[in-house]
Amino acid sequence: MTQTKTYQAAILPQPNQNIVRAMLSLKTAEKPMRKLQPDELLVKMEAAPFNPSDIAFLQDNYRVKKQTPCVPGFEGAGIVVEVGSDLDTKRWLNKRVSCFSQQDKDGTWAEYFYAKTNEVLPVSDKLSALQAATFFVNPFTAWGLFEIALQRESTAIIVNAAGGRVADFLFEIANFHNVEVIAIVRKQKTATALFERRLKNVLIENDPDFESKLHETANQLNATTAFDAVGGTLSGQIFNLMPPDSEVVLYGGLSGKAISGLNPLDLIFENKMFTGFNLNDWIAENDAISFEVARETLENMVLEGRISTKIQQQVTLSELSKGLRNYISAMSEGKVIIKF
Ligand SMILES: NC(=O)c1ccc[n+]([C@@H]2O[C@H](COP(=O)([O-])OP(=O)(O)OC[C@H]3O[C@@H](n4cnc5c(N)ncnc54)[C@H](OP(=O)(O)O)[C@@H]3O)[C@@H](O)[C@H]2O)c1
Repeated sequence: MTQTKTYQAAILPQPNQNIVRAMLSLKTAEKPMRKLQPDELLVKMEAAPFNPSDIAFLQDNYRVKKQTPCVPGFEGAGIVVEVGSDLDTKRWLNKRVSCFSQQDKDGTWAEYFYAKTNEVLPVSDKLSALQAATFFVNPFTAWGLFEIALQRESTAIIVNAAGGRVADFLFEIANFHNVEVIAIVRKQKTATALFERRLKNVLIENDPDFESKLHETANQLNATTAFDAVGGTLSGQIFNLMPPDSEVVLYGGLSGKAISGLNPLDLIFENKMFTGFNLNDWIAENDAISFEVARETLENMVLEGRISTKIQQQVTLSELSKGLRNYISAMSEGKVIIKF
């Protein structure tokens, strides 16, 4: 039983559509420790990132809602310091765990997180706290998305919002499977960074010849699966420019706009599909063995240094607003992480 009586947590009084107001409204407060439930683990948090889903949540633009005031944060990592009476102490105590929860309860932006066992993933002690804190969401999302490309036997994929961390993992997995990538970004700076990493096909969404280049490359490489995290008119453009029998999988709504412009005739006559992906559903649909294969492979990829989640800045709990501002203004530069 931890001796600490209170702990520091970020508190969101209520969401606000204006992201600046939402960020500025975040405060830190002391919360009293409570008795651990028999089926709970107490995790002493080491680190927790800002993700686009957190930003959408702060603005009330996300499907997950919590009673407010609340502690935000869907992901993070820490050490299990207390184990509920129904659980196996030997299995959990002092283990580093990656955490992911979208339940209506206090989140990960706090010194302690009360977790159910299905909200944590034990990870190797060799995985750094920062990598563990960004392990549960994006790597598994990339894995789950790529499974779709494998099922479809695509020889090339299109990745939108390609300067982000899900995209990084998609590139590495695609490389392993010898699948070509067409990356789409919105800034020249991000495109240059991807060219420097030897990506061959990098397109900028607002280039005058974007459409002709995408059409040409997608058809040349027969890129029949696209992963889109942006939405809006770009979704329609990508969909329309892909070859017959293609599927666009939407997994994020970064533009904040409804998808638009899909050519209905492509849906009807060209066997094209537009679908969605949600990590929670993918986890629920997977059996324990295939999840463990994904976990072990992804962890090894990071431990072997083949890939890691790029981190641009670490902040303290009291620097939340500053950190969020930096993250939002340069997302491709890497995650901003709260370090406890
Ligand atoms: N469905 C799921 O289960 C699931 C799971 C995990 C993640 N996601 C989603 O995956 C997406 C990427 O997450 P991440 O953690 O990889 O993000 P990230 O590392 O923070 O990077 C976000 C990327 O998106 C770009 N971007 C932001 N707004 C954009 C816009 N309006 N138009 C075009 N590009 C834009 C950013 O480029 P700039 O540098 O130019 O801003 C940056 O490259 C998010 O939408 C997230 O919610 C979904």
